[in-house]
Amino acid sequence: MKKMNFNELRTAFLDFYENENDHIRLKSYSLIPNNDKSLLLINAGMAPLKDYFTGVKKFPKNRATSSQKCIRTADIENVGKTHRHATFFEMLGNFSFGDYFKKEAITWAWRFLTEIIELDKDKLSVTVYENDDEAYNIWAKEIGLDPSKISRLGKDENFWELEEGPCGPCSEIMYDRGEEYTDPEDRYLEIWNLVFTQFNKKANGEYEPLEHKNIDTGMGLERLALIVEDAANIFELDSFRPLLTAIEDLSGHKYGTDEKYDESFRVVMDHTKAMTFLIYDGVIPSNEGRGYVLRRLMRRAIRHGKLLNIEGQFLEKLSKIVMEIYKTEYPELLDDKDRIFKIINREEKKFQETLDQGLDILNKMISDLDEDVKELNGEDAFKLYDTYGFPLDLTLEILEEKSLTVNKKDFEEAMNKQKESSRQHTSFKGGWEDDKLEISGYPKTEFLGYDQNDIKADIIGIESFDGNSLSESDKAVIILDKTPFYAESGGQIGDTGYLKSDNGLIRVYNTKKTADDIFYHFVEVENGEFNKGDIVEAKIDVDRREDIKRNHSATHLLNKALKTVLGNHINQAGSLVTDERLRFDFTHYEAITKDQLIEIERLVNKSIYDNLPVNINEMSLKESQEIGAVGLFEDKYKDIVRVVDMGGYSTELCGGTHVNNTSEIMMFKILSESGIAAGVRRIEAITAFKVYDYMNHMIEKEDKISHLLKTPKDSLEDKISSILQEEKDLKKTIESFKSSVENGLIDSLVEKAKDIDGVKTIIAKLNDLDGQSLKNMADKIQAKDGDYISLFASVVDDKIIYVCSVSKALVKKNIKAGDLVKFVAQYTGGNGGGRPDFAQAGGKEVDKLDEALLKLEDFIQEKINS
Ligand code: ALA
Repeated sequence: MKKMNFNELRTAFLDFYENENDHIRLKSYSLIPNNDKSLLLINAGMAPLKDYFTGVKKFPKNRATSSQKCIRTADIENVGKTHRHATFFEMLGNFSFGDYFKKEAITWAWRFLTEIIELDKDKLSVTVYENDDEAYNIWAKEIGLDPSKISRLGKDENFWELEEGPCGPCSEIMYDRGEEYTDPEDRYLEIWNLVFTQFNKKANGEYEPLEHKNIDTGMGLERLALIVEDAANIFELDSFRPLLTAIEDLSGHKYGTDEKYDESFRVVMDHTKAMTFLIYDGVIPSNEGRGYVLRRLMRRAIRHGKLLNIEGQFLEKLSKIVMEIYKTEYPELLDDKDRIFKIINREEKKFQETLDQGLDILNKMISDLDEDVKELNGEDAFKLYDTYGFPLDLTLEILEEKSLTVNKKDFEEAMNKQKESSRQHTSFKGGWEDDKLEISGYPKTEFLGYDQNDIKADIIGIESFDGNSLSESDKAVIILDKTPFYAESGGQIGDTGYLKSDNGLIRVYNTKKTADDIFYHFVEVENGEFNKGDIVEAKIDVDRREDIKRNHSATHLLNKALKTVLGNHINQAGSLVTDERLRFDFTHYEAITKDQLIEIERLVNKSIYDNLPVNINEMSLKESQEIGAVGLFEDKYKDIVRVVDMGGYSTELCGGTHVNNTSEIMMFKILSESGIAAGVRRIEAITAFKVYDYMNHMIEKEDKISHLLKTPKDSLEDKISSILQEEKDLKKTIESFKSSVENGLIDSLVEKAKDIDGVKTIIAKLNDLDGQSLKNMADKIQAKDGDYISLFASVVDDKIIYVCSVSKALVKKNIKAGDLVKFVAQYTGGNGGGRPDFAQAGGKEVDKLDEALLKLEDFIQEKINS
């Protein structure tokens, strides 16, 4: 078995499928499902890919591989109690969308396990679905697995499905960890599930055969690491250890000494991981849905932190460690740390403030219970929830430790009563940075911003922490009956601007909308008072919108130019259009050459110069297809679509805002082109005055360089080449000069070598020579005839460097360079070591150096005599 940690395993897996077996390598999708109401959180590698299995969407290749972030909360109470359960994990998977099937899936899985990471074949066994002879035969005949290692199991075990979506019979691979694991679940670890996806399970439970057969496999990265790192349990893996150490430091308890604390260690470790990833993906603690899962995990972690006697807020510290653990695969966590920490700290502070009080109250409630009553009443549990922020599950968990429970029906009733009474007030559940507010109960907003910048509108909703009325500096989310503000969608960012009334001014700093087209404006009150029902003048920032328009229209021209230059296989894979710049991601298999890029840029500029009128029409999807409009393969379109046509040259389905004529774009300049995933490339570009600014900036830079080098601009290149050449020549001269100085020094040192009981010893202080020079000299001395010990010390920047070499013959007499440098280094407050014939070290106390070198002679003498 190869020694690999979780990062290396992940890479080995993805490399194997991408490079050896031609899969598209996907970056993990967000934990928040996109367009899938059947699922709260992504819980399997295939979950974000359902549309590819059914054929609704297509990648440029029909096979893909990923390491997908997953959260499973079904077993949340067991996290901590066992050594296997975690809510957060990564699932390695390979997928075929109507491409390869059982034979390849099985053969590759076997090859990966037994040849790439070299697991012991004898420890592997498999299961197949009871009547799946095909899979059975592949294992038995192609792989040659002994029939005693293949079991046939029924639908409960070997048919894999989620609530809804692609599913089918499966074959699982198990690893035997050996007799020392007495619990069979610990001993026979299920490591890899190969699903032969053939059905689509519908919401009503019906199984509909899929058009093509697929492969969906899933292997828990942590499980695999457990085997490969040969750890007793997942919490001792490289992907947990830094957390474990940090919690030991924070709590003063050692893991593995007291099971009572160990359980809390495990809860805190797992939950801080889940928390960090959930918040990164846009979840905010709240009382519903995903927000509730997050809140529950965080509050559970906080309570267990308390059980471990950790003082004060600690989640940020641990979250930072999570980010470090995962930084090779998910560097984006660290980039977003400020926002993540803000959300963590707010929630932690809020809960810590009430946790002690809540626990006191709960303990009192428990002690007030009559001896024979085993149930806390629902109103009390609700009070804990409502006043002290105890999620019901937390109360249940604490009660369970004392074999008690809660009357859940009464709890729900109390909850509903409160909901009813607050319905009129607010349905606001998130924070200000919340991307995924749960806003509902409003009519669809009328969007007038395609042709109006400034309208009168009614405030029909204010979502804030403090209710319906807003005053100076308040932040909130406002819903209008109609709006000129474009809400972030189709890659185009949301509008900003103002809402104004006689009573004051509100700044709108972003606009988004819900899936059912309720627009919400993120606002801050500049001055005055605002209430629901107020009529306001809603006005967007027109200049900013104009910049956005130019960039959005340029994106369409770029899409067309890419197809013209690179071919029709180009598909949009994503885009971002802001007032500053545009970013366009598209499918293409190889790097774009410089000439192609120039041609693409030229074509876009040509279509700007061509003065193309922009016409926008609504029509049926069918009509749009007939006129050859380009749609994003990612999108599902409604029956009536909006078609943006630029002089018949570019025709795209699009909901965004655009210029009236391409000439308004003025200029287009590509700033960068790069690959962002297998088969996906990205172009970033600017338009209009941004190009002008960019050009001036470059010219200014050139002026500065010309001034610095005192060279006219048209001779700069020659000048720089000649400077580089001069530098090269100088380096050579310095090297040869250094070498001759070294040689001279060596001769005089060899001459002055001291004879210690017949051993030629050179101990010298050579200040201001760097480690490399010292090493060169030591090597040259060893190359001379005779047996030498040489030890050089040099003081550079107040630190001592030691280099020591000892001839092979002397090493045999047990005089070792490592020992000698260690002696002087330790004498001068440092440390170091190395091979017996050559070693380096450092020291700090320069004033002790002379003494150290003198003492070294005695030390050598002793060594020689002993
Ligand atoms: N989708 C399968 C699972 O999650 C591979 O086990």
